[in-house]
Formats: sequence, structure tokens, C-alpha cells
Amino acid sequence: MIDTVHLPLGDRTCDVRIGPGLIRGIGASIGPFLQRQKVWVITDKTVADLHLRELTDGLAAGGLEAESLILPPGEATKSWAHLIRAVEWLLARKVERRDVVIAFGGGVIGDLAGFAAAILRRGVRCVQVPTSLLAQVDSSVGGKTGINTEHGKNLVGVFHQPCLVLADIDVLDTLTPRDFLAGYGEVVKYGLLGSAGFFAWLEQNGPAFAAGDTALRQEAVCRAVRIKADIVARDETEQGDRALLNLGHTFCHALEAATGYSNRLLHGEGVALGCALAFELSARLGLCPQAECVRVRAHLDRMRIKCKLSDILGELPDADGLIALMAQDKKVVDGKLRFILTRGIGKAFVAADVPPDTVRAVLTEGSARHWRRS
Ligand code: GLY
Repeated sequence: MIDTVHLPLGDRTCDVRIGPGLIRGIGASIGPFLQRQKVWVITDKTVADLHLRELTDGLAAGGLEAESLILPPGEATKSWAHLIRAVEWLLARKVERRDVVIAFGGGVIGDLAGFAAAILRRGVRCVQVPTSLLAQVDSSVGGKTGINTEHGKNLVGVFHQPCLVLADIDVLDTLTPRDFLAGYGEVVKYGLLGSAGFFAWLEQNGPAFAAGDTALRQEAVCRAVRIKADIVARDETEQGDRALLNLGHTFCHALEAATGYSNRLLHGEGVALGCALAFELSARLGLCPQAECVRVRAHLDRMRIKCKLSDILGELPDADGLIALMAQDKKVVDGKLRFILTRGIGKAFVAADVPPDTVRAVLTEGSARHWRRS
């Protein structure tokens, strides 16, 4: 059975379909969006080796011809160089304004291909076919696209809503345990920011979900996407509530920069760790009961997800070094850091005036644990 989450955004309205067999059936799903029987697929080598044949067979079954651009896997692909490559590749193939580009991959490919489609001929439509858990619950939904620059992550990009998202939960079986758990960091974020009920559900079902229970996987993806769709429908361009989806991200982006966007810390791992630190910061500011922090860490520990600075291998900058890396955060206003803080599980809010000393204290305590361990 396929679930559909509807994201009502006027002429940018989008359905997110979640369930098994969606890649096999893609030809029939995207047919209604096409003016001609040809599509362009942007993917990466890892996803291509595992799933591209199934995708092109699914397209062919719907009478569609496809050409594919296969990029290198990894965060480094979300760059100016690969954006130029993707746009030039699409232009060389004379992709027209009414055509559809398929972003087939995890968060990196979704963001890059979505951005390429957005700027090509001032906007070509895009179908997102996310293949990682992280992309299914977060990055493929809501229209954020972009690339990283040497100044930081996601600093260049636009909002460009996909016309359709197909989250085929069968592909989750082929993820490495580490990639799956990194995606779980984004799943748990939804419970932490806005739904104590979903967090309690994850406490109960997380281990079976990670072990491969298909029905639980579909339910978890669906619940997370519903929470995200509700928020994006209220605030598509992040003037207010959408910032809540960045719970944990101020810490995460600094840690990703500090680890050179490398395998030392995957984005979803940084989100989970950042959420734990955001709860710690909220407790130190007297906003959130300490018991809630303990409960968050206990769940992340039980799921074997990195949730302490000491879980990151190798050296890290000190607290001031990490704070300096936060200065490029998109939530900075008038040079002041804004954080997503919380009054407890499911009760996140945007805080404009967070005392840097308290941030420093949280990071220093975490770093002290780091140095003791390394
Ligand atoms: N990943 C955060 C957002 O889509 O707003």
C-alpha cells in the first residue's frame, strides 16, 4: 500500500508518495507531468550501481526514454564544479522548460539536481526520488535546493518545489547500517522538535524499525514527512516556523565544517548530536528539564547513534573555534546567533538571544569529555 502526504502550496503543490515498489512503477507515476516521453536522471555512482537499472526499466515500462548523468558520491559533489557540470549536461541535451529532471539519490543529489533544475531556463520541474532515509524524511521534501561553498554548507541555493516525491522504502534495505542510522538522526529530530507522541513511538519501535521491519519503516517515514509537510505548508520560505526543522543544525553545521564534511561525521549523525547538544543548552538555560536531556541521550545511545562530541574520532577545534564556525549559520541575524531551543521533547522554539557563554560552556564540557577520551 502506498501512503500519500499532500503538501498544499498553490501552484507549487506537491504529493509525497511513500511505500514499496515506487521505483518499479515510476513510469506510470510521472507520466502525467510530462509533455514528451523523455526524462533526464541525475544520480551518483553508488545509487546507479544499486538501482539505476530498476529506475530506467520502470521508466521504460511507462514508455519513457531516459538519459543519466552519474556523479561521484559524497558531500564534495554538492559544489560549484558539479553544479556547472550538471547544468551544462542538461543544456547539451537540450532539456526544455516543460521537461522533468529526476533527482535520484540521497540528500546531496537531491539538493544539487534540484538546484540545477531550478536555475536551468529559469526553472525546469524536478521529481525527487530519494534513496536514503535522510532524503526520504527530510531533504527531498519542502523544496530546499543548493550547494556548499568554501564558506560553509548550503550557502548558495533556492527554494524549488519538486512536482512529485517518490520515497520507495524498498531501497532502504540497501543502505549501510551507518547511513541508515545517520538518516535516523533526521527521523528522531521530528519527534524532538514537534511531536512527543512520535518520539515515544520511536522509543518503542526504533530498534525494530532499524532492524528492517517494512511496515514500521513506512509508518516512520510517513509520520516524519507529515510533520515536515505541516510546517512547510505554514512557512514555505522559512520566515518563521520552518526554522524549527533546523533543530540541532547550528551545532551540526559547525561540526561538519570542523570535520571537513568528511566521513568523520555524516550529516544525519551531526543532526542527532546537534539535537542532543540543543537539549543540553536548553537545560542549562533552565528552559528544559534535565530529565528530558537524559531521555534523548538514552534513546540515541540505545540506537547506537553518535550523541557526544567524544564520539567523533580525531581532533576538534575548541569551543571558541566551533562558535566561530557557527557565524555563517543562515539563522544569524545582525551578527547574533539564533538557536532552536526546546522546553522539552516536542516543544522546540526559535531563540534569538542565546548567551554565547552558555553555548561555550556546553561545548567546553563536551570537548573536555572529548580530550579525556582521545
Ligand atoms: N531540512 C530543513 C528544511 O527543509 O527546512
